[in-house]
Amino acid sequence: MTAEASPTPSHSVPVESLTPEEAAAELEHLAATIAYHDRLYYGEDAPEITDAAYDALVRRNRAIEARFPELIRADSPSRRVGAAPTTGFRKVRHLRPMLSLENAFADEDVRDFFAGVRNFIKELRDDPSIPVEVTAEPKIDGLSISLLYEKGAFRRGATRGDGAEGEDVTENLRTIGSLPQTLRGAAPDILEVRGEVYIEKAEFLRFNEARAARGEALFANPRNFAAGSLRQLDPTVTAQRPLRLFCYALGEVSEEVAATHWDFLERLRQWGFPVNPKSRLCPTIEAALAFHREIGEERAELPYDIDGVVYKINRFDWQARLGMVSRAPRWALAHKFPAEQAVTVLKSIEISVGRTGVLTPWANLEPVNVGGVIVARATLHNEDEIARKDFRDGDTVVIQRAGDVIPQVVSVVAERRPAAAAPFSMRAKLTPPGATEPQCPICRSLAIREPGEAAWRCTGGLVCPAQAVERLIHFCSRLAFDIDGLGEKNILAFWSDGLVKTPADIFRLHQRDAEIRAREGWGEVSTRKLLQAIDRRRTISLDRLIYALGIRQVGEATAKLLARHYGTFETWRGQMLSATESEESEAYRELTNISQIGPSVAGDILAFFREEHNREALDDLRRELREITPVLMPSAAASPLAGKTIVFTGTLDKMTRAEAKARAEALGASVAGSVSAKTSYLVIGADAGSKAEKAKALGVATLTEAEFLAMIAGGQGQA
Ligand code: IVH
Repeated sequence: MTAEASPTPSHSVPVESLTPEEAAAELEHLAATIAYHDRLYYGEDAPEITDAAYDALVRRNRAIEARFPELIRADSPSRRVGAAPTTGFRKVRHLRPMLSLENAFADEDVRDFFAGVRNFIKELRDDPSIPVEVTAEPKIDGLSISLLYEKGAFRRGATRGDGAEGEDVTENLRTIGSLPQTLRGAAPDILEVRGEVYIEKAEFLRFNEARAARGEALFANPRNFAAGSLRQLDPTVTAQRPLRLFCYALGEVSEEVAATHWDFLERLRQWGFPVNPKSRLCPTIEAALAFHREIGEERAELPYDIDGVVYKINRFDWQARLGMVSRAPRWALAHKFPAEQAVTVLKSIEISVGRTGVLTPWANLEPVNVGGVIVARATLHNEDEIARKDFRDGDTVVIQRAGDVIPQVVSVVAERRPAAAAPFSMRAKLTPPGATEPQCPICRSLAIREPGEAAWRCTGGLVCPAQAVERLIHFCSRLAFDIDGLGEKNILAFWSDGLVKTPADIFRLHQRDAEIRAREGWGEVSTRKLLQAIDRRRTISLDRLIYALGIRQVGEATAKLLARHYGTFETWRGQMLSATESEESEAYRELTNISQIGPSVAGDILAFFREEHNREALDDLRRELREITPVLMPSAAASPLAGKTIVFTGTLDKMTRAEAKARAEALGASVAGSVSAKTSYLVIGADAGSKAEKAKALGVATLTEAEFLAMIAGGQGQA
């Protein structure tokens, strides 16, 4: 603690008896003291005083300011409410998004991956004798980070965050011994390198044992350890953690550094980055699968935890052409090891209510350790699945965890079934004693299972509190509004106390800050932090907003498609309101003409807009927001195709149709199936049919394949 911030304000003197000089001195002292404790608190781990003691300081400050308003300081703590956090991690935008990986478990899935690549790249499809090399790398389960080097010097390091934006943990990363501060030899002016921060198994155990001996909380697994260590506000704490690093991917780069991933790994080594020595160049699928088997056998002896192998198409030019789907590259695959399993008792089958009213059965389990994580519940999917596997209350079951996937119940240990165990029935479970019809366990509305559907649903709709709460939880979740401090627990509590009922209410919470501050577990700082987090989200991108609405079948990818196609919130909303579910409706034709949006998805979107309550809630929300920003892929911002609608017709010579579509989309275009007045360009290949004539009649611009390629040239890179 620094001398000027020692926390002993003259509480003994009643505010009424303070002289202006004393008041000014105390306000100065309080400003420094409160700022000091803010810094500690934002460090999460390190507060020195209780919330109550902190609140007393803030109240004292407020009381003095109320009596001497002319003495309120420019740096007064009372002025900081609603301002940017004084400390904590700065958010940084990655120069290129950090992607995730598609998973495969069976060898068959790996073969499908290779087949998909062959079908996407025209030369490979036409000539099966061209080999497709991949690199294979052990997949370490740590924390992915992005490192930015400028003119060979380490400038900035960030966590992955949501893939587009992470947290600036530069100073903490500097404490990792193997991270090069300056690069050996010539390097591009801008070089973004991706890698994994992890801890070795032995060191993890040693560290946890020492914590146990000191009576401190233990880290659940090595991955949490790495994450917790990197997110320390004080780098000297991070420096005491035995963190390590392997680098394995390229982000933004100002000049070409290699033609293949394998050569890139070699350049990383030359620059001084740690690269996993186990990585191997595999000329064939069989070689890749053999690597997976070998590493799987070695797994237990490796000094670090791995959960699979990552394959990457070796040629960078092919990687660029393959591009990505949703959030994962088409050129890489995570081949996971078999899931970790454990045996435990299924205490009971319970039902939860989702945001769209689906009633999902889940297993309430005797807690058990599965591969380092304690599991107490697992999903059971739906009634048919339970019947197929014949799960019953009291059964001994095998459960498994695979990567980040929610734990699953795999099978029953038949010999251990209690004599009294009765087959499970959703109807019986949902029908309480004395009732004649199945009911929603929360709102008691009728529960139904429509013919042809696997799911039971609550028919309560807006009256069902469980659905309302689940919608709010979804609204605040990471890929939606991503509001720090509004997780499941707090939303539930706020909801049941009437603080929030609709999304817009979240943005009006500042009007109720006194009520929040007075709640158990909440104080001055945590309330301010929450209100700041909410305020920051008054600016939101259109795709996040659409996703946040929780419309059935509109996940992250569909939300992105819609946002990109319609551009602005007003256009999207206007079009959805004017569309009717029929081919007569132009707005409907436009919606279903977006590739990947069929009548079923379109129907759910329009059903959402038909509900008056939804329209009102959306408009109410809009009034609370500052700005809804359009979405463009980073590389698409300056592209000639951004915001354009493109249709392809005929056989292309250089690209498969899948590649053409993917490349247009990567540059911000929306690809449609048929020509209309809204089409920006029709790209015409060989043997084109009626579409070309229609384009001519409508005055739509047409391009040859060569013209299209010239237009997009240079606009794409790696992920
Ligand atoms: S490549 C497109 N390579 O796995 C590039 N990722 O499930 C994406 N990971 O977020 C990453 N080892 O944290 C790549 N050799 C490796 C990896 C690896 C571990 C992690 C990484 C990523 C996650 C995706």
